[in-house]
Amino acid sequence: MAAIKIGAPASLDSLELVSLDDPGAPGPGEVRVALKASSLNFHDYAVVTGMIPAAAGRIPMSDGAGEVVAIGDGVTEYAVGDAVVSTFFPDWHDGQTPATAFTRVPGDGIDGYAREAIVAPTNWFTHAPKGYSHAEAATLTCAGLTAWRALFVDNAIKPGDTVLVQGSGGVSVFALQFAKAAGANVIATSSSDEKLERLRELGADHLINYKEILAWGAEALKITGGAGVDCVVEIGGAGTLDQSMMATRVGGHVAMIGVLTGFAGPVQTGLLMAKNLRVQGLTVGSCTQQRDMIAGIDANGIKPVISDHFELARLADAFRHQEANRHFGKIVVDIAG
Ligand SMILES: NC(=O)c1ccc[n+]([C@@H]2O[C@H](COP(=O)([O-])OP(=O)(O)OC[C@H]3O[C@@H](n4cnc5c(N)ncnc54)[C@H](OP(=O)(O)O)[C@@H]3O)[C@@H](O)[C@H]2O)c1
Repeated sequence: MAAIKIGAPASLDSLELVSLDDPGAPGPGEVRVALKASSLNFHDYAVVTGMIPAAAGRIPMSDGAGEVVAIGDGVTEYAVGDAVVSTFFPDWHDGQTPATAFTRVPGDGIDGYAREAIVAPTNWFTHAPKGYSHAEAATLTCAGLTAWRALFVDNAIKPGDTVLVQGSGGVSVFALQFAKAAGANVIATSSSDEKLERLRELGADHLINYKEILAWGAEALKITGGAGVDCVVEIGGAGTLDQSMMATRVGGHVAMIGVLTGFAGPVQTGLLMAKNLRVQGLTVGSCTQQRDMIAGIDANGIKPVISDHFELARLADAFRHQEANRHFGKIVVDIAG
């Protein structure tokens, strides 16, 4: 079985295509999945470049999709031939995140999906949306569910609300699509006018180039007639939070998701207080939230935006493509499992 492993020290150049023993037949409560696709997230990039330390020899990638090819005794929720997609926190079924879940994220604390096959407990997967290719399903585990949770678990976005999404990466494009499907208005930002046009084609109502308009928070306020947006999908972190808070309405919500500008920095606590804001951190979501998202996708037919495909053997090139910010939405890795 082909797989990619991270060398020591971790770097894109350390990624190595290896041949591993076949994982064998599933035991009781397990399924064997032939993996067909994965997709890149910033989190995976952080792991393969050593920004997030992982054990040497770790198989990267949190996202995996494929076909059930064998089931163990007692498995009733899957049948051979089912299309499935991996869960980011296999140990987080419902309710609050168990603290232990954080150390068992595939592709980080435990081996992930840059491989052709896996034998795992059933809760490592959910059914994929109806009519999705494996490549499409592989975009949901991290980026899709994070956007879903920001809008519909930690908030209750409804028709007429206004959501601001930052940039055109995986999480933000899903957030744009989900927000539009819910009937919300969307303000989209990007560093590129060309990408802004693509965001407009996906339904964005207002566009801001954040490289040209540095005070984009004030611009969003202006767009909303001074009221502010109901929710910001915040993927920049320390360097963007002040503008996000500026953009948000009194009593609004900033979904604190990303760290693209760094892990720490000064915060305008006065603005946070004066606007009665709720800045809520989140880390992906539970298996139940993933099933809810997939039911939502089944109902409205949203398809993910995939800008690029790479073969598993070219995983390092896929990350270089992401690093150069050439992607729009998701980069998929095709696997021959
Ligand atoms: N907390 C969680 O559960 C969770 C889950 C998923 C992701 N994340 C985090 O969310 C962030 C995005 O992840 P991703 O996988 O969606 O990344 P990605 O697909 O690599 O997207 C990155 C995009 O972000 C935009 N961007 C970069 N710097 C920006 C800035 N200063 N202001 C606004 N936009 C900026 C760029 O868009 P343009 O080219 O259009 O400018 C870039 O293409 C990362 O920090 C990641 O770790 C967190």
